[in-house]
Amino acid sequence: MYNYLKVVREDAICILYISVPQSLNALNSKVLAEMNSFVDNIDDSVRVLIITGDGEKSFVAGADIAEMKDKDEYQAAEFANLGSTVFRKIELLDIPVIAAVNGYALGGGCELAMACDIRIASSKARFGQPEVSLGIIPGFSGTYRLAKLVGPSIAKEMIFTGKNIKADEALRIGLVNSVVEPEKLMDSAKELANTMIKKAPIAIRIAKKCINKELTMTIDAAIAEENEDFGYCFTTKDQKEGMSAFLEKRDPEFKNK
Ligand code: COA
Repeated sequence: MYNYLKVVREDAICILYISVPQSLNALNSKVLAEMNSFVDNIDDSVRVLIITGDGEKSFVAGADIAEMKDKDEYQAAEFANLGSTVFRKIELLDIPVIAAVNGYALGGGCELAMACDIRIASSKARFGQPEVSLGIIPGFSGTYRLAKLVGPSIAKEMIFTGKNIKADEALRIGLVNSVVEPEKLMDSAKELANTMIKKAPIAIRIAKKCINKELTMTIDAAIAEENEDFGYCFTTKDQKEGMSAFLEKRDPEFKNK
């Protein structure tokens, strides 16, 4: 069905492999179009999405430099818009999205990882926004998300120098949640996914929406929003089940209702 994506279902977990072996999984407009279609058509039964790079070496080595080289300013802005739109859709999916960063996450690769909710890195992963080495800036929303994640000062240092950082440094600055040995990467991502799958899906969806939305709000508006969403949880059967199960000292059986 796809030329540049491999999609693997394991029960309620969906694993999306970005697979462009000739360019270390660089994102060209065809790959982005396929990702767009994948996100638009993701099955309702998927409870957690894991995104990773196919192959040993690279998560995503950035946007495709060969495709970008001869673009004019309008074509370049359109390309940036395509990547940013797809990444924003990933960020707004109402299920948790985990980036399992198996290797190079440079430029658009770092930006893709940042659009995910959680990042687990292999100790072999390398992160960076090398765009200034190419005479451009991050174009798939990296200036925004990197500054939000690690703070403007560290984001500026990374973006102004274009230097790559190792996984342990990415952990130190808060760019990734954890670092694991390469052979444990997918198992760690699945273990995390399975922990989330056991929880109430509507509550996770609402919590994700709250956190994403509140990042752009004042604290008072965010508190009001959270109060309302907290109340909404009490309209669900899963809230009754979760609390009953606790009081009855048994495991809850959530029904996504
Ligand atoms: N766009 C297009 N092609 C890319 C690419 C990208 N972002 N990243 C890697 N490739 C291609 C290389 O051109 C090379 O193709 P070739 O075999 O036809 O020569 C192939 O992938 C392998 O890359 P190579 O550079 O030979 O591997 P390496 O192990 O020496 O280096 C990287 C790996 C990731 C450090 C290096 O490829 C790199 O710096 N890539 C660009 C990263 C970047 O600037 N990304 C931001 C773009 S905005």
